[in-house]
Amino acid sequence: MSAPILHPTAENIAYAAATLSAGGLVAMPTETVYGLAANASDAAAVAKLYTAKGRPRFNPLIAHVADLEMACQQGQFRTDALALAETFWPGPLTLIVDTAPGITICDLARAGLDSVALRVPAHPVAQALLNAFGGPLVAPSANPSGQISPTTARHVATDIGDRIDLILDGGPCSAGIESTIIDARGEHPALLRPGSLDPAGIAAIWPGLTRPQDNPDAPQSPGQLLRHYAPIAELRLNAVHAEPGEAYLGFGPGTCDLNLSPTGDLSEAAANIFAMLRALDGEHTRIAVAPIPDTGLGEAINDRLTRAAKV
Ligand code: TXA
Ligand code: MG
Repeated sequence: MSAPILHPTAENIAYAAATLSAGGLVAMPTETVYGLAANASDAAAVAKLYTAKGRPRFNPLIAHVADLEMACQQGQFRTDALALAETFWPGPLTLIVDTAPGITICDLARAGLDSVALRVPAHPVAQALLNAFGGPLVAPSANPSGQISPTTARHVATDIGDRIDLILDGGPCSAGIESTIIDARGEHPALLRPGSLDPAGIAAIWPGLTRPQDNPDAPQSPGQLLRHYAPIAELRLNAVHAEPGEAYLGFGPGTCDLNLSPTGDLSEAAANIFAMLRALDGEHTRIAVAPIPDTGLGEAINDRLTRAAKV
């Protein structure tokens, strides 16, 4: 039986918080993608979440917190990291910091690391749920591991509705790509995953951003698998037009089956990428994707496309 899709009324938020306290799994909207939430301090609930997603347990989870105060109970922030948090939270930024002595987020959620990934989401429903629950919630994207992330409640119901307790419907996600992950432990910020927050904004607050993904010997985000976000259809990237038998996912003006952004707007393309890949995937076995500029949010879009195209 599929989990109920509930409107985020005050009553349903309270019900969702009680479900989480009882060790249940709740899908919640965030501004980036839908997350599958569990009590971050309850190892049994976190174990259930890994199983529901089919996620390898060496891949740690992001803990979502209501505000900076709750974050500081779990992690230790150096001054520059604090400046990033104060500037971009609530929002699509995840910070990797050292664990605080009083951390309650369980070892399993962190895959045994002595660091923790923290984020304050901006979506009002995620905010309401975190406040009603009163503690950190782990929330990976609410899809089976390795597949396309969900940006509507309906996507969640189709993908994993039979394995979870309930889905809060907050409408389509506005940003559409996961949060930007910054390792904030070192002297300079390190971009572990490009995402919905343009890295240019980071550099304005804390200069010297490094990109360890460009250097295979440097520390990485353990969950950055080469093949990820994968549709069933074959993807061909940087295609200026479709070959016979291919669907065409466009960007900018021109003829295509679906268009990420007819005006060439990267924020619009990020908001559309996962839903459009899903829509074409249902009806085609080969999808050609237009070139996307690699600047600003284009870096995150190209990161997802490259992983989705890996065979
Ligand atoms: O936008 C998002 O971030 C969404 C929404 C639901 O908030 N969540 C999300 O979670 O994308 P997930 O679990 O799919 O991605 C977590 C990423 C993984 O790549 C993981 O390796 C990395 O965060 N991560 C978690 N803890 C880490 C740590 N201590 N050090 C390095 N990377 C870490
Ligand atoms: Mg994911």
